[in-house]
Amino acid sequence: MASGGGVDLEEIPSVDLMTELLRRMKCSSKPDKRLILIGPPGSGKGTQSPLIKDEYCLCHLATGDMLRAAVAAKTPLGIKAKETMEKGELVSDDLVVGIIDEAIKKPSCQKGFILDGFPRTVAQAEKLDEMLGKQGTKIDKVLNFAIDDAILEERITGRWIHPPSGRTYHTKFTPPKAPGLDDVTGEPLIQRKDDTAEVLKSRLEAFHRQTAPVIDYYSKKGNVAQLHAEKPPKEVTAEVQKALA
Ligand code: AP5
Repeated sequence: MASGGGVDLEEIPSVDLMTELLRRMKCSSKPDKRLILIGPPGSGKGTQSPLIKDEYCLCHLATGDMLRAAVAAKTPLGIKAKETMEKGELVSDDLVVGIIDEAIKKPSCQKGFILDGFPRTVAQAEKLDEMLGKQGTKIDKVLNFAIDDAILEERITGRWIHPPSGRTYHTKFTPPKAPGLDDVTGEPLIQRKDDTAEVLKSRLEAFHRQTAPVIDYYSKKGNVAQLHAEKPPKEVTAEVQKALA
């Protein structure tokens, strides 16, 4: 028996089907949530996102990851974005707004979404509100990963990533069990091209000039929760849970 999407359900192992069924049953009782994670590079957005995603059955939309995938695949979008990203500057609002507009309509975003790295300018925030307004929805909470710039260089230069899963490690703070390998799959970890001390300076400059005003934009709407992002990961998770309770 093939489903509408052409997937042959008989070929999927029963244990996987049951796991997915149980996940969906658990998710059906969760409230819908539309969240924004905002903070400078290395503040922990990507580290906390998978935990929030699993807890609330949301989709995780990270514009940086989407753009890097487009760069790797050499799509027209990726070709346009590559040079800008490697310099640590922001790509054009139109490019990312288009990506998000498509992505939030996916079935995996039915219970809501985590926007990680978007909106990054006030123009993007206004476009987002317009998109959600058309659907009769709005942002429920903005989690502000507040942290001093001085902490970020060590976090960024020590970061290692498993691109297929989005799992993030740090050579000092959260090292993988075997150096350079993902704990779950054993596949190699990579470092991002823009994760150097030099490019970080441009990324921080872009954050303070273009993205910090987005925090003010949402503060005026009264839905920003402040996190102490300099704390260890588990303590940040506890603050996230409190903010979303
Ligand atoms: P993007 O991929 O979004 O990068 P970013 O915002 O700079 O954020 P990062 O992914 O670097 O940081 P993070 O907060 O997720 O940190 P993490 O949790 O991994 O964007 C890249 C580029 O894409 C941009 O420069 C731009 O060109 C373009 N772009 C993307 N979106 C765009 C948009 N909307 N508009 C225009 N352009 C856009 O943590 C970092 C490290 O610290 C890890 O190693 C982690 O293990 C460790 N760590 C995390 N939390 C803790 C903790 N509490 N204590 C100790 N260590 C910790």
